[in-house]
Amino acid sequence: MRLGVLISGSGTNLQAIVDAIDSGALHASVVVVISSRPEAYGLKRAAAAGIPVVALSKETYDDPDLADEGIASLLGEYRVDYVVMAGYMRRVGLPVLMSYEDRVINIHPALLPSFAGAQGIADALAHGVKVTGVTVHFANATYDDGPIIAQRAVDVLEDDTEETLAARIHEVEHRLYPEALRLLADGRVSIERNGCGCRVCRILPRGE
Ligand code: GRF
Repeated sequence: MRLGVLISGSGTNLQAIVDAIDSGALHASVVVVISSRPEAYGLKRAAAAGIPVVALSKETYDDPDLADEGIASLLGEYRVDYVVMAGYMRRVGLPVLMSYEDRVINIHPALLPSFAGAQGIADALAHGVKVTGVTVHFANATYDDGPIIAQRAVDVLEDDTEETLAARIHEVEHRLYPEALRLLADGRVSIERNGCGCRVCRILPRGE
């Protein structure tokens, strides 16, 4: 399973995926890392792991459709099977979504459909929820939408700040993203329509 990872920031999820591959827990390879920001620390992590990197400038996104066409063609050049968004702070547009239908994955630091958007952790805290968590899902044209592959709950503690809650959420992310990718690598994720007409993921038992 050839992964193209899209980042914008520190790249701790990218690192968790690379570590899972290195340890043999995930049978995949990260074949290219594309960053929407040239200064993203994740680019250093990728380079240290010997992964080809492409850094896009802010100007690249002046025309978002053109930027996305460029990204889609890069992913094609690297013969990517799955596009993995790992803290990518740009919307993935139609050129990528159409080339990689049901093959673009995102991780979100809340239990979707609650607290979608860029402030998932702060919003959950502000609402006083007692449980939040992490969601790995297929991306579609709507932000933080699409069939859910895996979720894990994280308790919100009475004395949590955004920083302490974020730290526990990130720990869970670093385990859940490789686990979700492993389900895909093992062919255990089936997208089906449920009784409500929604497209949802069914996780197949091992060996089905
Ligand atoms: C993660 O919290 C992820 O859920 C969100 O962006 C953050 C990325 O962190 N989409 P990192 O760059 O992987 O450290």
